[in-house]
Amino acid sequence: MYFGTDYYPEHWVYPYAGTADQPESRWDVDAKLMVAAGINVVRMGEFSWGLCEPEEGRYDFDWLRRAMDVMQKAGLKVVLGTPTAAPPIWLARQHPEILPIDEHGLRRNEGTRRAYCLNSDVYWEYSRRIVRAMATALGNHPQLIAWQIDNGIGGHQTSSSFNEEARRDWQAWLKAKYETIDRLNELMGNRFWSQTVRDWSEVPTPKAAPTVHNPALVTDWKRFSSDTCVAFVKMQADLLHELTPQIPVTTNLRALTRNFDHFDMAEVLDFVAVDSNATIKSKSSENACEIDMLRSLKKTGVRTPDGETGFWVIEQKAGHVNWQEVNSLIRPGVVRLFTYQLVSRGASGVLYFMWRQPRIGSEKFYGGVLTHDGHADNRIYKEISQIGEEMKLLAPVLKGTRVVAETCILYSHENEWAQQQPMQPNKHFNQREHVQLYYNALHDRNIAVDFARPTEDLSQYKLVFAPSLHLLAGGEADLLKLYVQNGGTLVATFNTGLVDEHHMAPDTGFPHDLTDLFGLEVIEFDPLAPGEENHLAFKGTFPTSHLHPARIWCDLIEPKEECQILATYAKDFYAGRAAITLNTFGLGRAVYVGTMSQQYFYYDLIAWLRQMCNLFPLLKVPDTVEVSLRQKDDTKIYFLLNHQNSPVRLQFYKPMHDFLTGNALSGNYDLPPHGVLVLDEHPAA
Ligand code: GLA
Repeated sequence: MYFGTDYYPEHWVYPYAGTADQPESRWDVDAKLMVAAGINVVRMGEFSWGLCEPEEGRYDFDWLRRAMDVMQKAGLKVVLGTPTAAPPIWLARQHPEILPIDEHGLRRNEGTRRAYCLNSDVYWEYSRRIVRAMATALGNHPQLIAWQIDNGIGGHQTSSSFNEEARRDWQAWLKAKYETIDRLNELMGNRFWSQTVRDWSEVPTPKAAPTVHNPALVTDWKRFSSDTCVAFVKMQADLLHELTPQIPVTTNLRALTRNFDHFDMAEVLDFVAVDSNATIKSKSSENACEIDMLRSLKKTGVRTPDGETGFWVIEQKAGHVNWQEVNSLIRPGVVRLFTYQLVSRGASGVLYFMWRQPRIGSEKFYGGVLTHDGHADNRIYKEISQIGEEMKLLAPVLKGTRVVAETCILYSHENEWAQQQPMQPNKHFNQREHVQLYYNALHDRNIAVDFARPTEDLSQYKLVFAPSLHLLAGGEADLLKLYVQNGGTLVATFNTGLVDEHHMAPDTGFPHDLTDLFGLEVIEFDPLAPGEENHLAFKGTFPTSHLHPARIWCDLIEPKEECQILATYAKDFYAGRAAITLNTFGLGRAVYVGTMSQQYFYYDLIAWLRQMCNLFPLLKVPDTVEVSLRQKDDTKIYFLLNHQNSPVRLQFYKPMHDFLTGNALSGNYDLPPHGVLVLDEHPAA
């Protein structure tokens, strides 16, 4: 278990710290304070190109080696960031062609981080050189346990740019995909609005234009940009694997928010590392959803520095941020609570961003473990030290444990990119909001959930949700059928299978390629404005705790004979028509939910599905307490988190062992505001 911080030794030299005689003397103080807080790893170096190569070809890694030596003396391990996220000014001055050009044809200038076009050969070449030089100079340092490639790849809207080299690569990418120009014209549907091209060089990039570009072209552009981001990271990963084969590589991702395919990215990394925004969001289930998404990116082939299977949170907020309109303080106990949330959902490394509030630069009012004065008598340092103590205790028992989920939510970037485009049936439909409704229902009932692409093997899951796979490739539809055929239960919804992978609508009915699976056809769909509602009328055994609305979208469903109707619409010209159905297919069941409702409906749906699929909540506790489980063989470690600002009463019907205090708990127990309980069970022992 790694517990650490993001350290910028370059910020803490004379005249900002240290003395004229001993300009780096603060580093020793920092290392000692880190160790006292239970920290065992630091990440550093990711923005230091200009210091490591102050002019072309003149490298200076000595200062970084000295910083690593200081860490070594204190027993701290090091993750080194390759510095390509912050190209030096001299490089941009020498090669202005590396600067990214935006969709309006305007150059985005140097003077900040990420000022580069990912398709620039020159940038690739300079990146290769600095990465090679860094790995050669520091790759043998005994403290080095992992590489972080670049930083925040795709951030600040840099996942694509419109430079000439991007255009060149785009056209080559299209040629590899379509092979002939006729095929491209046909599959992209270029006869619409007279967009037929005669040659690869004529295919446009989706630059600013009078109106919307062909959605098939835009979807391809997103795929191409994603492949570019992944290729840039892979180029560095390959180089690092060649030079330091024993050191695993990662990069810091965000919860599927950047414009590249995070699953593809995870494939070229040895382990997944993420930046977490927790402590800013108030809703625990939204944080949990992001964590589960990121944990799910890499399910096999994981190689972490200590051989654990989990993922790392390489930037966890230590305090407040600097990019909201109002950057309020994080309340006492909340950093601890969210650290436990990450660990409980599978993290095997947590590092706080950042060690100390810098005295220089644009992030000086961002919260840190230490405040500007560096005294270590501040509130956050004390809280982190408490967590550090607890993590030392927990590490041995967590070793080898993991999160096991029996349910899964399907997610695909291509689908999301397709839905983000203009001219959708309902611009008020939001895919993330839809996913979150399903996720919350599982989360709030303490049922563990993974995320997966529709192309993954789903056979380990009892229950799979596919909310609004608007873009569904033929192959994906086949795999969903196979899953149900073999006994799985699939829940899909409206806005599914409206187009295939070429962005073409089917002429065989909606949902494309799945009408047999669900035993129905969607004849028409009625998007509703915000505030407009229909209602659901339920039949049979479906439990209903409330009157459930149908909002945003109503599919008008024509069920086939054998398909069972679970609910109908209550009003409008389609009153009495099927809204929710159940079909058996092979050994499994396919449920179709033709509309979007409110959260209570999804609770009822889960209650019904739980019975049907034999799913059990991890523990029975009040709704406001989040429960997760890490397990290995017979060992079970339960985490109970109180996300409320007031105590919650728990009842233990059988005695449980409180791992952090060693006490036995039974009967009533009041979990304090933002409190955490770790309960361990070792039945075999
Ligand atoms: C990202 C970056 C960090 C920092 C934070 C600020 O996570 O990786 O360098 O800028 O954002 O939120």
